Amino acid sequence: MNTLTINGKEIQVPKGTMLLDACKMAGADIPTLCYDPDLRLAGSCRMCVVEAKGRPNLMAACVSPADNGLVIETESPDVVESRKVILELLLARHKLTCHTCEKDGDCKLQDYCYRYGVTESRYMGQGPHFTKEDPNPFIMRDYDKCIMCTRCVRVCD
Ligand code: SF4
Ligand code: FES
Repeated sequence: MNTLTINGKEIQVPKGTMLLDACKMAGADIPTLCYDPDLRLAGSCRMCVVEAKGRPNLMAACVSPADNGLVIETESPDVVESRKVILELLLARHKLTCHTCEKDGDCKLQDYCYRYGVTESRYMGQGPHFTKEDPNPFIMRDYDKCIMCTRCVRVCD
């Protein structure tokens, strides 16, 4: 077993446990966008970053092992600021039409923007825009809403 401290709480986890699961065991609510327990890990969105004492960089919890002795903060000021920047970068090219979107109320991007008080993006610009793709009876893709989580790619793989 490995012993680590998460938000001041000491827990023990089996060796090989990932930090995201250890944080959940400690009761921490870690936001995730690219993570899916049924798919290979991507570690690309960085929403799940946490701060480890003594480590120079924030760690993506979904792709980092819960090493013995780690002291983790899941909502430190640096973690929160990092998540806000990521959300703002996503919003910079995202269609902001929640009121007419069929995912309104069932959308992690919306939930996390609300949670971290992100209402607009300081990176908003003249981003590229795409046409909708409706190639088959099952899936319609609106790439102006894509958050580049790559889950569709990994499902197809
Ligand atoms: S189109 Fe694919 S990469 Fe884009 S948000 Fe949907 S699942 Fe994620
Ligand atoms: S959820 Fe961990 S990097 Fe995307």
